[in-house]
Amino acid sequence: MSLTLPSDFTLRESTRKFIDSGPKQLLINGAWVPALDGQTFSTVNPANGEELAQVALAGVEDVARAVHAARAAFEMGPWSQMSGAERGEYLWRLADLIDQHADELAELETLDNGKPLRVSRRGDLPAASKHFRYYAGWASKLEGSTIPVSIPNQFVYTLREPAGVVALIIPWNFPLLMAAWKLAPALACGNTAILKPAEETPLTALRLGELVLEAGFPDGVINILTGPGEPTGAAMAANMGVDKVAFTGSTETGRKILRAAADSNLKKVSLELGGKSPNVIFADANIESAIKGANWAIFSTAGQECVAGSRLFIERPVYEQVLDGLRQQAERIRVGSGFTPKVHIGPIVSAAQLERVMGYIEGGREQADLVTGGQRLGGDLAEGYFIQPTIFAHQKDDLPLVKDEIFGPVAAVTAFDSMEELVARANSTAYGLAAGVWTQNLSKAHRFAQAVKAGTVWINGYGMFDAAAPFGGYKESGFGREMGKEALDLYTRVKSVWVSI
Ligand code: NAI
Ligand code: MG
Repeated sequence: MSLTLPSDFTLRESTRKFIDSGPKQLLINGAWVPALDGQTFSTVNPANGEELAQVALAGVEDVARAVHAARAAFEMGPWSQMSGAERGEYLWRLADLIDQHADELAELETLDNGKPLRVSRRGDLPAASKHFRYYAGWASKLEGSTIPVSIPNQFVYTLREPAGVVALIIPWNFPLLMAAWKLAPALACGNTAILKPAEETPLTALRLGELVLEAGFPDGVINILTGPGEPTGAAMAANMGVDKVAFTGSTETGRKILRAAADSNLKKVSLELGGKSPNVIFADANIESAIKGANWAIFSTAGQECVAGSRLFIERPVYEQVLDGLRQQAERIRVGSGFTPKVHIGPIVSAAQLERVMGYIEGGREQADLVTGGQRLGGDLAEGYFIQPTIFAHQKDDLPLVKDEIFGPVAAVTAFDSMEELVARANSTAYGLAAGVWTQNLSKAHRFAQAVKAGTVWINGYGMFDAAAPFGGYKESGFGREMGKEALDLYTRVKSVWVSI
């Protein structure tokens, strides 16, 4: 494959080797195989539109094969019969392999997703291996409880058992990290898994599949299927042999998965969906750090983040000052190829997403005041999907720009006058994933944190994550909590055992 990269950048040999190794296959039952009907699709470098690789497109029958393998591995062991401590060792081994190949995985992530190499290498990669290590620890700590009941001579205890065969469907914004968020707790709990990366960014999941084999996981414990939502994802959600689906992506697709579960075997479902998160700056905030934080909350990852701080509420007395600061910061952001040193943000992930984001920007021009940005970038970047950091100022919360998840570098900024007004407006959204608040007044910060309907609230900061801290949505941002101890509930079932003594 001929790759066009910035002239001063050379890919590592191992990365080049993976790209050049021919069409990518499906990992089913411990072996790489093509799709049964031989179909493939291409994955593209969003920085220049070039094809990176041909990838197998898994059809309904491939999904059935993978489910069969995962079922056999679950029912017949050794995975499900292994001690938790032993499963933990496998997870730890995989984490070590991720660290050993971090430079290569980071390059693949930047090729496929577009994010700056520095971000892939220092952000996504260590977060992914840490995630496996965190859940490696939990594998040996899955406890039930003893329950005092009012009926005499009964001893009741609970067992925490794995859910079974789990389907993990993930998006393209943090490809390897999302795989880790789902695989690590699922495996720690003793499930067998079928992972489907997003069709835009399959490469790091496929390289992870090679590391899974190197780590020696028993056949069928981790299967990796590539393909689009239709048919691959839909077949996973509808399959009668899948016990649970964990999904991260759009609210629209979340609804389809829930429907597919309802119409098939009522599999367990957890959904981490979209957001339109409010980020609030009070007049008494440390204004300088609030501006920096708010700028990063929306523009890092070019706004392609479920928790993006896309609705900014600024208290009236500092409105002009903050808006001006935001504009200045936005205009200093360097947009470009993820392989160009010192670039802050990369491209939008695909031509389709670019079109969607530009549609919101064009619509926004007529409904709100464009403060800065608004253009697709041309020149050297014309072949890629690059958009300027864009700020709109508005007074109306019912504009599409303010209501919908855009998933691009677009901030909607407005002024507010009171806590009461703020809380009502911050909560007037179908979503409830995250929120931020900047103030030096402790009571104000906590009052807002309690009043806002969101699964995560950051006070005087934004966008921090840790494997130990639960994360998930309110309202149409989904249900179920990933990370932390809470994620164990997603991947286990509780059995009550009654003993007459
Ligand atoms: P999507 O939700 O359609 O795709 C996410 C994953 O779901 C991919 O792996 C895809 O193949 C799979 N999928 C799609 N249709 C499916 C179906 N019927 N059954 C099972 N799996 C299916 O998101 P898409 O189309 O990439 O982006 C559209 C919008 O979704 C974005 O603009 C953004 O607003 C939102 N989104 C939110 C994310 C988040 O982290 N909350 C991540 C990605 C997208
Ligand atoms: Mg889609």
